[in-house]
Amino acid sequence: MKDIFLEKLSHIYSPSHLKKVITGLETSKRPVTFRVNYILSNESEVEEALEKSNIKYKKIDVFSGIYQLDLDLNESDLWSLDIYTSWKIYLQSFASQLPVHFFEATDETINILDATAAPGGKTLQLAEMFPNATIYAVEKSKVRYEKLKYNIKKLWENPSQSPLIRGEVNRIQAFHLDITQIWKHEILKDIKFDKILVDVPCSSEGRFHIHDPKCFDHWDQWTNKRYYRLQKSILDAILPFLKSEWELIYSTCTLSPEENEWILHYLLCNYPELSSLPIDLKQDNIQPWITQFWKYIYKKETTNCIRCLPSEKSEGFFIAKLVKNIN
Ligand SMILES: C[S@@+](CC[C@H](N)C(=O)[O-])C[C@H]1O[C@@H](n2cnc3c(N)ncnc32)[C@H](O)[C@@H]1O
Repeated sequence: MKDIFLEKLSHIYSPSHLKKVITGLETSKRPVTFRVNYILSNESEVEEALEKSNIKYKKIDVFSGIYQLDLDLNESDLWSLDIYTSWKIYLQSFASQLPVHFFEATDETINILDATAAPGGKTLQLAEMFPNATIYAVEKSKVRYEKLKYNIKKLWENPSQSPLIRGEVNRIQAFHLDITQIWKHEILKDIKFDKILVDVPCSSEGRFHIHDPKCFDHWDQWTNKRYYRLQKSILDAILPFLKSEWELIYSTCTLSPEENEWILHYLLCNYPELSSLPIDLKQDNIQPWITQFWKYIYKKETTNCIRCLPSEKSEGFFIAKLVKNIN
């Protein structure tokens, strides 16, 4: 399977980019990355705690509150720190932190759907970034739903939890549900969402470690099309629940265009009320857009997305932003 995968990559990337991608996928250790949990802490407290314990770190100045440890350090180096045990920091890969940052900021009282939410890294980010939002976090897998609930509860149990409560209501509500069945869920079916995050299940090719045969246990030449169908069914189910003039962020950690540009192309062709909005990220491993793959030519607007090459610092990922126009 590895050979078929590498062959496919050679059709996706130019020779110079392919070289970078392979180097990225050969990386066996990336720096430990985390973010400040602004509900419970701030940058000065986190930096002070790291310095006191002689933990070498670097701030990643892409968005606020993102840090990485020096490469020779491990997650376990943080375990004894109060900022770790009290959830003042949240371990999350750099790429995984990004999608939420592309939503427009607002203090309005809004409803946000996190459609495929576990383990909840982005759910918690949404709660931090939108202080007056209620977040509806949906997860299909029971085991992962339990993990999601655990992560939410960790914040909830903390004495400084008050930003998570509005009136009597917990601002984060978790649901064990297949999101494609949202139309018949007794609570969710009646809500129109101001923002939707769909961090879809995907083939995760951007996180492959190419020398690890386990990566290919679940990958074959049909994997991307299988995920394409699943991703399409999730989007078809949730789009009727997005309010006009509001936004949806779609993200994957995979490389193949079927699960990225092709999905965007499908949406733009089949939902005339949707437009894709340009997003930008100042990073050295951003890849030029793919406008054609095999015989398929994608709509020009698909180039509004961000496509990042896997690198020694971060896994590969894809982010797109869509807005629903007034009919
Ligand atoms: C990429 S992960 C989400 C990661 C999460 N956004 C985070 O940042 O912590 C995708 C999740 O979607 C869940 N999932 C897959 N199919 C689903 C469906 N039909 N409805 C709801 N969740 C689904 C998977 O179990 C998985 O937990």
